[in-house]
Amino acid sequence: MKLFIALVGLLALAKALPAVTHSKVLCYYDSRSYVRESQARMLPLDLDPALSFCTHLLYGYAGIQPDTYKLVSLNENLDIDRTHDNYRAITSLKAKYPGLTVLLSVGGDADTEEPEKYNLLLESQQARTAFINSGVLLAEQYGFDGIDLAWQFPRVKPKKIRSTWGSLWHGIKKTFGTTPVDEKESEHREGFTALVRELKQALIHKPKMQLGVTVLPNVNSTIYHDVPAIINLVDYVNVGAYDYYTPTRNNKEADYTAPIYTPQNRNPLQNADAAVTYWLTSGAPSQKIVLSIATFGRTWKLDADSEIAGVPPIHTDGPGEAGPYVKTEGLLSYPEVCGKLINPNQQKGMRPHLRKVTDPSKRFELGLTKDTDLTYIFGTYAFRLPDDNGEGGIWVSYEDPDTAGQKAAYVKLVKESRWCRYCGPIIG
Ligand SMILES: *[C@@H]1O[C@H](CO)[C@@H](O)[C@H](O)[C@H]1NC(C)=O
Repeated sequence: MKLFIALVGLLALAKALPAVTHSKVLCYYDSRSYVRESQARMLPLDLDPALSFCTHLLYGYAGIQPDTYKLVSLNENLDIDRTHDNYRAITSLKAKYPGLTVLLSVGGDADTEEPEKYNLLLESQQARTAFINSGVLLAEQYGFDGIDLAWQFPRVKPKKIRSTWGSLWHGIKKTFGTTPVDEKESEHREGFTALVRELKQALIHKPKMQLGVTVLPNVNSTIYHDVPAIINLVDYVNVGAYDYYTPTRNNKEADYTAPIYTPQNRNPLQNADAAVTYWLTSGAPSQKIVLSIATFGRTWKLDADSEIAGVPPIHTDGPGEAGPYVKTEGLLSYPEVCGKLINPNQQKGMRPHLRKVTDPSKRFELGLTKDTDLTYIFGTYAFRLPDDNGEGGIWVSYEDPDTAGQKAAYVKLVKESRWCRYCGPIIG
C-alpha cells in the first residue's frame, strides 16, 4: 500500500449532499513524498484512485526566492526538469479528470530559507508585484489552474496546558498574548490583503484561474486575515485546524492535536470549531470554507513521569521515534499508526501494540442533527507505556476514519445550517 501523506479538506462530502455544485473537496499532494523510499514513495500517478473524489488538487509546495521575491520551484530537479517533471505530471492528471482544478501552493512551511521573506514581501509593493508576475507566469507555463497561498505567517506561541503540576489552563490564561510575536501585525495584515487583491487583479482576465488561501496551523486569523476584505476575492479558504499541539511546539506535554471542540481546560480558540467560527462570523460564506483533515499523527515519547492512564494532557519527553516508512521523528503516517495498533503475530521480545482510545463520547452516528452530538469529540489517541527500562513509551494523537467522518459531519451541519449557534433560531 502506498502512503498518502496528504491533507484532505472537506467542505462537504460530495456524496452526502444532493447538490454538489458548491461543495469543494481539496486534496493535497506533498511533492516531498516523491523522494521517499519503498512504500512511502508516492508519485503523482498514485493519486489516481483518490481523484474522482476531489474537486481541487493542491501541489505543495513552491517557495519564494529571497532576493527577488519571485515565486519559484523549491526543487527544480523534481518539479521542472525533464527527468521527473512533476509539475506537468500533476497538471496532466486533468486529462483524465477534466473537472479537477489543480493549483500550485506556495509556502506551507516547506520554504525554510530566510523565512522572514514572507513578512518582508508583504511590506513592499515592489516585492508583491515580482511575486505575482512570476507566479502567474509559472502557473500558466505548467498548466496550473491558479495559486494557493499557504502563507508562512508568524505563529501563535505554544503554551503549556499545565504551567505547574495540577494548575490547569485557567491558571495561565492571564499571561496569554503578552508578548507579541510580530511587531508589525497590522502592516502584515494590510499587506496580505493587498497581495490577495493584486493577485486577483492579475488573474481577472484569466477566468479559469483560481485563487485560494490556506491558513497554516497556529496562524492567528484574527490578526492576519481581514475576512471582509479578502473573502470575495478568493475561491476558498482552507482552514488548517490541526497541529495545535506538536512535539516540536510542546515537547514536554502531549495533547489532542486537532479537536473539533474545546476539551476541558484548554485554550478555547485552538480547535476546528473556533477556527471555522471566526471565518463564519466575520462574514465568510460557508461554501468557501474548507476544513483540513490531517492524515498523519503526532507522536511523543512517554517516560517514567508520564501518567499511566494515558489521558491527555500527559507528561512527555520529546518527540516519538520515527516510523519505518516516513522516517520522521514525532510523526507517523496513518498506515504507520495502523501498523503499531495491530500485531497479529506478536513475537517474543517484540513490543506490545499500542492501546487505542476512541472518544469517550457516543460514537459518531449518521443522521446526527445537533452540535451536542459532536461536542465531546476531540479525536483518537493511542499509547504504550514505557517498559521497565524506560524504553518504548509512545503517545500518538491521530485522525482515523471515524474522527475524519465526525469532521465531515461537523462540516455538513455547519453548511446545511440545520444547526447554528451564532445565527439564532433555525428556519425551515
Ligand atoms: C489571536 O489574536 C487575538 C487578537 O489579538 C487574540 O485575542 C487571541 O487570543 C489570539 N488567539 C490565539 C490562539 O492566540
